[in-house]
Amino acid sequence: MSAGILTFAVLSIIGIALAAVRAFRGSSQRAKLGKVALVKIAALPAGRGGPHRRDQPCAGRHDRRGALLGHARRRRRVRALGEDQPRRAVLPPRPPGAALALRQLLFGHRVTRIITVAAQLKLADAMDEMPRSVAAVAAAVGADAAALHRLLYALASIGLVTTSAPDQFALTPLGACLRSDAPHGLRSWALMESADYYQTAWDQLLTSVRSGAPAFESAVGQPFYDYLDRHPADGANFSQTMKEVTTVIVDAVLAAYDLASVQRVVDVGGGYGKLLTSLLQRYPAMRGVLLDTPAVIERARPQVQATPVADRCELVGGDFFADLPAGGDLYLLQRILMDHDDEASVRLLRNCHRAMTAQSRVHIIQIVLPSSEADAARHLLFDGAMSNLNMFVLGLGAERTERQYRALLASAGFTVTQIIPTRALMSIIEARPS
Ligand SMILES: C[S@@+](CC[C@H](N)C(=O)[O-])C[C@H]1O[C@@H](n2cnc3c(N)ncnc32)[C@H](O)[C@@H]1O
Repeated sequence: MSAGILTFAVLSIIGIALAAVRAFRGSSQRAKLGKVALVKIAALPAGRGGPHRRDQPCAGRHDRRGALLGHARRRRRVRALGEDQPRRAVLPPRPPGAALALRQLLFGHRVTRIITVAAQLKLADAMDEMPRSVAAVAAAVGADAAALHRLLYALASIGLVTTSAPDQFALTPLGACLRSDAPHGLRSWALMESADYYQTAWDQLLTSVRSGAPAFESAVGQPFYDYLDRHPADGANFSQTMKEVTTVIVDAVLAAYDLASVQRVVDVGGGYGKLLTSLLQRYPAMRGVLLDTPAVIERARPQVQATPVADRCELVGGDFFADLPAGGDLYLLQRILMDHDDEASVRLLRNCHRAMTAQSRVHIIQIVLPSSEADAARHLLFDGAMSNLNMFVLGLGAERTERQYRALLASAGFTVTQIIPTRALMSIIEARPS
């Protein structure tokens, strides 16, 4: 064999080997990405913030990386074919990881139904961290043992219960959030999510997205808060849900801001008063006014009276668009403005403005939507996006970005003095009369 042929053969073998290594790297990269997507989706039902938790692999980042890899590959392919070849506008899905991940997301409504049925059965109240037999749990909640067995397996698959033997199940900390007496529970939320009035509106999502018209009023026959006013059982469960959510976030909200200098606080649309009574307990010299609709205030009364701060808390039933108690040095609007469009929000803020003194301030406690995907707080995108769509379906307002809040407040005669993120999704937007 001549030296030239030998050199050619060696170079060919090296070339083939390099191509094989590149191909192997590419396929293992694809396999890795597919695996991340599956792990991420599998974690969805059990995770606090769904797939966008900061401490979990971030869907957007990996999807973008996948998209970039695909883009580079496509460019190479197009170059090989010649620039005049038509470009594909849409990336083909990456089988089978993408399809399997999508299939798991499609089970989302089953997951919700499984959890809400557990809440309706008060299953968590009949269980604790010690394993119990299916027969015993079925007898306690009045269910068919064989059917309940399947439900418990489904609940085990999403982390609400564990199973140590084929017919033995125990509650996990996640499942314990469905207990009626859980200090940070969400049983009322589960009941609200499955309530007829809520489902009927969500059933109209396709029509609403096509037409641009919100679903709730046409599906249920009246605006959201009118409906709650006229249906006391649903109204009471909604207020209880708001109280549950406040209980989950209140420590983070109170820890984010020192209010020791405040003497009189007005909680505008304060529901059952969880935020206000927590504030009054933290600051013994503070007095407060809880304002909500007359129906909500009547139901709030026994709840406030059961707290040690009832004597410092005045209850006012009214309409926050009509009149607000004057002279507070702090006005709280927690999860109020997302219920209203810009016009109504400005009206409400101007009402606050009228009731305030020059030294008063308003605290708007809301999710602040990230203004771009590059925003670090990706978990806010999940909660914010879900709430934003929910506001549309229910015919209410919208979640907003920082820029939108600043514009809204400026229109109502306020200047934003600071925006403080809290540990629990919400930010505090502080504004003072300009
Ligand atoms: C989304 S909830 C928030 C409740 C509470 N701020 C919280 O964060 O848990 C909105 C509240 O505004 C009250 N609300 C709605 N329209 C109102 C009005 N026109 N006047 C007074 N309160 C109203 C509702 O009854 C409800 O309690």
